[in-house]
Amino acid sequence: MIPFSIKVFFFKIWQFLLKISTPLLRFRTPELFSGPGSSLVLCEHIAKTGVTNLLIVTDAMLVKIGLLKPMQEKLTQLGVGYVVYDGVLPNPTIEQIETGLTMLKSKGCTAILAIGGGSSIDAAKVIAARAKNPHKVVHMAGLMRVFFKPLPLYAVPTTAGTGSEVTIAAVVSDPSTTRKFAIMDPCLVPLAAALDGALMTGLPAPITAATGMDALTHAVEAYISRNRTEMTDREALDATQLIMENLAEAVNNGGNVEARQNMALASFKAGVAFTTAGVGYVHAIAHNLGAYYHVPHGLANAIVLPRVLDFSKPDCTDRLARLAEVSGLKNGGESDEQLAAAFIAKVRTMNAAFGIPTQVEKLKESDIVAITDKALSEAHMFYAVPRYMDAPEFQGFLRQMLPTPA
Ligand SMILES: NC(=O)c1ccc[n+]([C@@H]2O[C@H](COP(=O)([O-])OP(=O)(O)OC[C@H]3O[C@@H](n4cnc5c(N)ncnc54)[C@H](O)[C@@H]3O)[C@@H](O)[C@H]2O)c1
Ligand SMILES: [Fe+2]
Repeated sequence: MIPFSIKVFFFKIWQFLLKISTPLLRFRTPELFSGPGSSLVLCEHIAKTGVTNLLIVTDAMLVKIGLLKPMQEKLTQLGVGYVVYDGVLPNPTIEQIETGLTMLKSKGCTAILAIGGGSSIDAAKVIAARAKNPHKVVHMAGLMRVFFKPLPLYAVPTTAGTGSEVTIAAVVSDPSTTRKFAIMDPCLVPLAAALDGALMTGLPAPITAATGMDALTHAVEAYISRNRTEMTDREALDATQLIMENLAEAVNNGGNVEARQNMALASFKAGVAFTTAGVGYVHAIAHNLGAYYHVPHGLANAIVLPRVLDFSKPDCTDRLARLAEVSGLKNGGESDEQLAAAFIAKVRTMNAAFGIPTQVEKLKESDIVAITDKALSEAHMFYAVPRYMDAPEFQGFLRQMLPTPA
């Protein structure tokens, strides 16, 4: 049996190798259109590329509430033909992706426009990749497994949370193995995106809160990651400040377009930060809570975040203190220890104000060992967390989140 301290040594070497190879991957960011109405400017940009047959990938709810209409009218006006695939559901599955791919092929589409939350954008990324790659979706899991350049992809996020419009990742659920895995490849970054806060004014308050806490988790996990860079620090701090200044307003007064626009920008910046620095234990757990119990991604992150920060604090006190400063929590004279504690307390206060529970209602004792195995292999393979947990400690950590007996 290898002692855990030796394993941690090897995790750190592996994660350091990931860090030094990251610049070689040359991440792009999409060409960005920003501001209320920018989704229509993106349509003009798409029309200029000469595409005539677009696949719009979205979810049925957004079609139902008429969110796509102005973009559809604009595309028609510009002579761009399109078909709509609206079969994406939250935590998209391989099956939903394959159905979208079948539609793309049967209609002869040559480019994709994703309109929706992270689920629609991620599904669109994988449809674009599958259109040009013969290997199955499961065989693309992990880093750099998309061998041929995907179809041209454009994105309009309608939630402010995942940052998927700028990240190298697409997260896919495989119900046959109760697994949620990430496909990570720089070629998945959309060619262009529009941050149009006006499209988010109808997002219900609980989804606004949960997706906003997802963006906060990206910023925080990137900021405390050992694989951070000066650039990711800057973006993560900016994102945190924007979220602290705008999320509560976006939740309580959803029609405030300025708050929505600022949250869209925060989500984008947090995406830029984590696509290079990585995330951490919060996401490793949240992916499993999504795969096992369909807990919405942002909600799962929000529940787990303060507990992971409590655990990590001894090895990133100074970092949490800087996050507290940009969150407006410094009055002067506090130690880093006090500021770090204040930041974690602030996350708990936000959760409570947004009605986010402290326990995972559906978590079962009988799943804890399997979730630990999956979450630790994801985290220790990809995430440079500031402080490590071994399996027994992780199991104990998860048990703290079991539903409290009535
Ligand atoms: N690719 C990445 O880098 C990345 C990062 C984090 C999370 N994710 C993944 O993204 C998915 C979650 O995405 P999400 O949190 O954006 O939510 P989502 O896309 O699953 O959407 C959640 C719900 O919000 C509704 N909705 C979306 N926009 C709306 C609007 N403007 N008005 C009204 N309703 C609206 C949708 O219909 C849906 O019911 C998860 O699968 C998660 O794992 C991906
Ligand atoms: Fe996330």
